[in-house]
Amino acid sequence: MVDLDHTRLPRHVAVIMDGNGRWAEQRGLSRLHGHRVGKESVRAIVEKSRELGIAYLSLFAFSTENWNRPPREVDGLMTLLRKYLASELGRMMRHGIRLLAVGSLRRLPPAVREALQASVAATRNNTGMTVTLAVSYGGREDITQAVRAIARRVKRGELDPARITEDVVEAHLGTHGVPDPDLLIRTSGEMRISNFFLWQLAYTEIYVTDTLWPDFREREYLQALAFYQQRQRRFGRTGAQVERERLHAV
Ligand code: FPP
Repeated sequence: MVDLDHTRLPRHVAVIMDGNGRWAEQRGLSRLHGHRVGKESVRAIVEKSRELGIAYLSLFAFSTENWNRPPREVDGLMTLLRKYLASELGRMMRHGIRLLAVGSLRRLPPAVREALQASVAATRNNTGMTVTLAVSYGGREDITQAVRAIARRVKRGELDPARITEDVVEAHLGTHGVPDPDLLIRTSGEMRISNFFLWQLAYTEIYVTDTLWPDFREREYLQALAFYQQRQRRFGRTGAQVERERLHAV
């Protein structure tokens, strides 16, 4: 049993869902089979997050680099995403889940892009948990498009370069309005950010587990949350300062 303090849960959990391919290969199954079982983990983690009252969950579903995979696998992943959206919309509406999508959506096959945009539009007024799907997403690309948009505003004379603050940059990122993640979970053991939320992860606690994504279910999730609760988040301050503030707060 994992003992969690429900008053100190992360507000925003971000996940790099890695290891579907390896999970399948270990069993002599196709990589796509691994992604299909991984989809069930997505469902389980969304559901548990909602039950726990976690306000924001972000999932790295497909990176800009993933376009380089064999076309069969890319097509399979796209189909899986479209089916997931179709099968989950009812549940998202019932549970008040708002869906957001970040990434270069124009690169997606039209049917997937339309399904994604339709789900985002249908759930836009939901006030429960926010699930952000990062699809065809790259952190560097996100920052680059923000820089481009800011440069255009400067060129039009709308913005003084001296007034470009961190808040201005944040306002031009795909994740605008979503608070930075408190906890990043990465499955299947790799110690990398893999071009995920580069800007947004500046102060995020990072939890890496050897468990492969298709095996990452409620029990593993609760362990990750317990890890988070053991961390002392200092944001550049000393441990003593944080402790003093904690004592003042109670
Ligand atoms: C990484 O495993 C996973 C992906 C590239 C895709 C993630 C997709 C899903 C979990 C399923 C569909 C998603 C949704 C939102 C329904 P990998 O293939 O890189 O694994 P490997 O490192 O073992 O090869």
